[in-house]
Amino acid sequence: MAKVIAIANQKGGVGKTTTCVNLAASLAAMQKRVLLIDSDPQGNATMASGVNKFNLQNSITQVLIDGKDIRECVVDKTSGGYHIIPANEDLTAAEVKLLDFLVREFRLKNALAAIVDNYDYVLIDCPPSLNLLTVNAMCAADSILVPLQCEYFALEGLTLLIDTVDQLARAVNPNLKIEGILRTMYDNRNRLSADVSQDLEQSFGDLVYKTIIPRNVRLAEAPSYAKPALYYDKNSTGTKSYLALAAEILEKDVLEAKRHAAKAAAQPKAKAHPAAPSTAPSAAAPAATPSA
Ligand SMILES: Nc1ncnc2c1ncn2[C@@H]1O[C@H](COP(=O)(O)OP(=O)(O)OP(=O)(O)O)[C@@H](O)[C@H]1O
Ligand SMILES: [Mg+2]
Repeated sequence: MAKVIAIANQKGGVGKTTTCVNLAASLAAMQKRVLLIDSDPQGNATMASGVNKFNLQNSITQVLIDGKDIRECVVDKTSGGYHIIPANEDLTAAEVKLLDFLVREFRLKNALAAIVDNYDYVLIDCPPSLNLLTVNAMCAADSILVPLQCEYFALEGLTLLIDTVDQLARAVNPNLKIEGILRTMYDNRNRLSADVSQDLEQSFGDLVYKTIIPRNVRLAEAPSYAKPALYYDKNSTGTKSYLALAAEILEKDVLEAKRHAAKAAAQPKAKAHPAAPSTAPSAAAPAATPSA
């Protein structure tokens, strides 16, 4: 069963799409079956995956609004070796139309159920806002990966995002958790970056990925070639850092699976009850009244 990760931060331009596309390509290169869902009307992840957003037969809009079979909306040929449900600006109107549905937060989760077992990882690229599209992504997700630029207001935005995740967890998705916080566009010549990075580690400990994504021009150039950086410049530091992030996530998941297995094995097994003879009176049956 797939792990569904929403890549979210209401702050714009922090590297959500870059992370989504390059992490998807890195996991796919490691033989994982990956689906990327573009849930941003900007359609940047769609274009960066080599799919033309101006020429879409089906997109996430049809899944969310028309209730179209999600299988028909998956594009299985991208430049990154993963599948994608693309998006374009139609999704802006769709966000408003979502309000007409009584159960509007679970449109994506319910649709995704039909294909989630076909994948190891589903990554959802969220728009830069805590709107209904992001809420749908968070309701469909097991966890949230938060890309964060190490700058002055970043921690304030993070607090708001964590509050939202907590609220959603309490109200609608009790298992939702923060998958990890990823430092992006990191500039090690910048003193402020180092200070914010240190604050993050102190406040959030293991939730902060060890992998840091540096500022790297190849990561910025690759989308204009409609490719993840891995297929544009495989030796760039940007490519290598996203491969390292994928490896870190896989390693964490293996450890977690082992912990779960050990916990399950340590639980006392339920005692098997001997089968009741078929002639035994049912406990639910009323006692026979003795004849007078
Ligand atoms: N590590 C990096 N090094 C250099 N440039 C980067 C890096 N990560 C992202 N960029 C560039 O920064 C810009 C913003 O990145 P991106 O589109 O991934 O952010 P986003 O959070 O998805 O933005 P939005 O909130 O608008 O959806 C893009 O031009 C992208 O190419
Ligand atoms: Mg984006």
